[in-house]
Amino acid sequence: MQVKKAVVPVAGLGTRFLPATKVIPKEMLTVVDRPTIQYIVEEVVASGITEVVLVTASGKSAIEDHFDYSFELESFLAQKGKLDLLKEVRHISRLIDVVSVRQKEPLGLGHAVKVTRDVVGDHPFVVSLGDDLVDAGTPCVFQMLKVFEKYQEAVVAVQEVPDDQVDRYGIVEGEEVEEGVFKVHRMVEKPAVGTTRSNLAVIGRYILRPEIFDCLDRTLPGIGGEIQLTDALDILRKERGIYAYKFKGKRFDAGDKLGYLKATVNYAISHPSLGGPFLSYLRELLKNMDNKD
Ligand code: G1P
Repeated sequence: MQVKKAVVPVAGLGTRFLPATKVIPKEMLTVVDRPTIQYIVEEVVASGITEVVLVTASGKSAIEDHFDYSFELESFLAQKGKLDLLKEVRHISRLIDVVSVRQKEPLGLGHAVKVTRDVVGDHPFVVSLGDDLVDAGTPCVFQMLKVFEKYQEAVVAVQEVPDDQVDRYGIVEGEEVEEGVFKVHRMVEKPAVGTTRSNLAVIGRYILRPEIFDCLDRTLPGIGGEIQLTDALDILRKERGIYAYKFKGKRFDAGDKLGYLKATVNYAISHPSLGGPFLSYLRELLKNMDNKD
């Protein structure tokens, strides 16, 4: 079963980033030289996905425009001979086909996935959350697709988090069946600290089977009064089984101010032309700070 579509929910209000996100969608905030949403789309494209389904809300049209063809801009750059910039702009508009589905009410991540049912159809698909940036040699989604190919059941990406942070994530309890792969025994959304023995947290990457839509139909509002994808996944687990995969790579919570800064520094250091000078600047900065002590 080939996985060709990726659902990317972008309907959230981005309140953690106010006032920056009052007018600009949080997914359009720049990390080094591209908006965070472009990292997400480039990761799924590099993993073999050919269609992105954006789950949008009002005020998010800049995201669709970003991946669209801009006749005016491309003609202007061509006319002025700015060929490097033209290449960059063309790269984005030719990256992938993007379709949009509206989430008319903010009823939670599970609901955002549910509204894509007609567009996704009867095939397995990826869900990638825009807040989670993963820097990895082999794209995280590609790594997960290998696990999906083997087990043919839904796969969620996980990483270990400190015990006092489990209440920020979907948490997976399970048994390791091969290195880094867990058969899931239970999933719970944002459990209170001390109520679960596991610290394996779901980060925003999922390979889902189409049966998830029936599970979502039967999912009642959970924590925060929202339809939680984690709760629907726990139904799917009982009915078919699901797997968790400890991906290889560095994950950044770009939806949080500190996480966003860490992501910026990480991607700046590894940037082909900016990396060297930026690292020298950081070294100088730290040296001067040490000298002051
Ligand atoms: C969502 C999911 C949660 C997951 C997290 C990863 O939560 O509901 O299970 O662990 O993304 O970033 P949110 O951060 O939207 O509250």
